[in-house]
Amino acid sequence: MAEVVFVDSEAAAGTLAAASIRSLILQKPDAVLGLATGSTPLSVYAALAASLKADPIDVSRVRGFALDEYVGLPADHPESYRSVITRDAVVPLGLNPSKILVPGGDPATIRTAGLDYEALIVAAGGVDVQILGIGRTGHVGFNEPGSSFASLTRIKTLTEKTRADNARFFPSIDDVPIHCMTQGLGTILRARHLILLAFGDEKADAIAAAVEGPVTSSKPGSVIQLHPHVTVIVDEAAASKLQNLDYYRYAWANKPWPGI
Ligand code: F6R
Repeated sequence: MAEVVFVDSEAAAGTLAAASIRSLILQKPDAVLGLATGSTPLSVYAALAASLKADPIDVSRVRGFALDEYVGLPADHPESYRSVITRDAVVPLGLNPSKILVPGGDPATIRTAGLDYEALIVAAGGVDVQILGIGRTGHVGFNEPGSSFASLTRIKTLTEKTRADNARFFPSIDDVPIHCMTQGLGTILRARHLILLAFGDEKADAIAAAVEGPVTSSKPGSVIQLHPHVTVIVDEAAASKLQNLDYYRYAWANKPWPGI
């Protein structure tokens, strides 16, 4: 089962996850990071950037794969995930931009972009740690309900609910692309460690379904129950619909080593 860790702030979640990533990079200077976009991972990137500023380590060999990309936005559009990951992670962390890859969102290449991306992940030796947020639909990556647990990087159609959620980054919902390229649930399952973060009560149903619900493609986040090494970091609001809270707290309080 997933290790479930409770935090009282997004900053505390960021500190925990950043410490784990920093330690990974120290052990493996060319570590492969799986990078989510959106609001949820911002505290992780901010904490890691602060840690690297206070006590620098060499990150020049770190590699990264973004989870997803909109189809049809030019790469230099401010809301393309290429732009977002550059702004939120590559620049603040001082990563080498040429080592950070994003799925291709060019409509001309969507039939082959997924397989090409999968080949690059395999050639890199796989993802060491995958940072994940979760959508209100229960999606991880942009694997909307019904996505196969065996799915690999491919084009997906975003639900109206997800487009409405992401409309905050665009002038209107009509400007939110309908399609995306996303790592599949099968791709995510291949990463060696998953760190899923969620904050706020609007994520409570999705977290309960992911951590404790039936394993079903109707709740794509439940794919984490099939993975041997998952850390779920949640605030009290996002954790509010979990049943086994006492056990998670007990396990965390008695963990034989510090950190995640
Ligand atoms: C982002 C991604 C999505 C988001 C999810 C939550 O790369 O793949 O699964 O993590 O939509 O978004 P936020 O964090 O903005 O609430």
